[in-house]
Amino acid sequence: MARNYGDDNKSALQAKSDAQKIAFAPIMFQAAKALRDFRILSYLRRNKEGGTLEEIAKHAGISEYGTLVLLEAGLSMEMVMVKKDKYYLTKTGYFLNVDMLTRVNLDFTHDVNYKGFFHLQEAITQGSPAGLNKEFGPWPTVYEALAELPDKFRESWFAFDHYYSDTSFPQVMPVVFRNNPKRILDVGGNTGKFAIKCAEYDESVQVSILDLPGQLKDAEKNIHENGFEDRIKGAPINLLDFSIPYPKGYDVIWMSQFLDCFSENEIVSLVSNARDAMDDEAELFIMETLWDKQRFDASTYSLHATSLYFTCIANGNSRMYHSEDMHRLVEKAGLSVVEMIEDVGVSHTILICKK
Ligand SMILES: C[S@@+](CC[C@H](N)C(=O)[O-])C[C@H]1O[C@@H](n2cnc3c(N)ncnc32)[C@H](O)[C@@H]1O
Repeated sequence: MARNYGDDNKSALQAKSDAQKIAFAPIMFQAAKALRDFRILSYLRRNKEGGTLEEIAKHAGISEYGTLVLLEAGLSMEMVMVKKDKYYLTKTGYFLNVDMLTRVNLDFTHDVNYKGFFHLQEAITQGSPAGLNKEFGPWPTVYEALAELPDKFRESWFAFDHYYSDTSFPQVMPVVFRNNPKRILDVGGNTGKFAIKCAEYDESVQVSILDLPGQLKDAEKNIHENGFEDRIKGAPINLLDFSIPYPKGYDVIWMSQFLDCFSENEIVSLVSNARDAMDDEAELFIMETLWDKQRFDASTYSLHATSLYFTCIANGNSRMYHSEDMHRLVEKAGLSVVEMIEDVGVSHTILICKK
């Protein structure tokens, strides 16, 4: 089916104005972050009657000059407004300050992506994660690097990853368990959060996690802390070595926010390996943030930006997929999508696939 998205109905004035927002976006982004981090937004949030420049600067512990340039940027970003020399927080400023979705996205942009994105064009021409390589180290993908990256990077990367999956996991339990699976294989199970949720949800289920050794160390710690060593096991593996078959005998194979970490050809090989491990009753659940299945423009915008994180930082070749691409790749790997569940958590879709 042909794709349709977007229109061109703006006035020329509006279009030119929007173009300036893009032209200055990285500068204004840093100003927004500074307004948040210097606690100027939280000060204005607490002081509903507004604050003068002098009061705000004193509270932030920075010069009046520094406070003024940030506040004036805030006026243009519509994060603050000024009336009779007093500054007030707007709704956008409020969300920048306290909304968890915004916080997680902003910190991910800053701590994981910001410096690396200087090298985006190189990443695109070379098909390699040039941002990761130039700013952090010579790893082929971010996944092999994660355990060794700076604390801030790791913190914001995991907060971003977990924010989206954490809100979906409780919601998907009744779907995953509707046919009473006894054994679940979590491919790319990361820090074990899904496996632990399953073990809490069903007292007899056994879960195995496949992931890289670095991530499994975190998973094993969490499994131990939750007392599930007898029912959750981790198997270290590089899943990009397609010659290694997946273990057999699982009722459900689970891939959450996993396939977007790979190129189209790699997805076909990964899903083919899952297929080879499935019997006729087994189900493969693919939970993804598919960009055409979003209810809000802001979600699609975030996913298109996140695709570029894959290009520049993660691996140089993957992206957030369109639902039609994911269907096509699953079918190319020899499975059928038998059901699709939309609007799961913040922005997920689940594809249920069978032989
Ligand atoms: C974006 S995270 C998703 C984690 C989790 N499933 C969730 O929904 O939050 C992708 C996971 O795939 C793993 N992964 C990526 N490349 C891999 C590879 N080549 N072999 C094994 N695991 C890999 C990563 O280590 C990471 O844990």
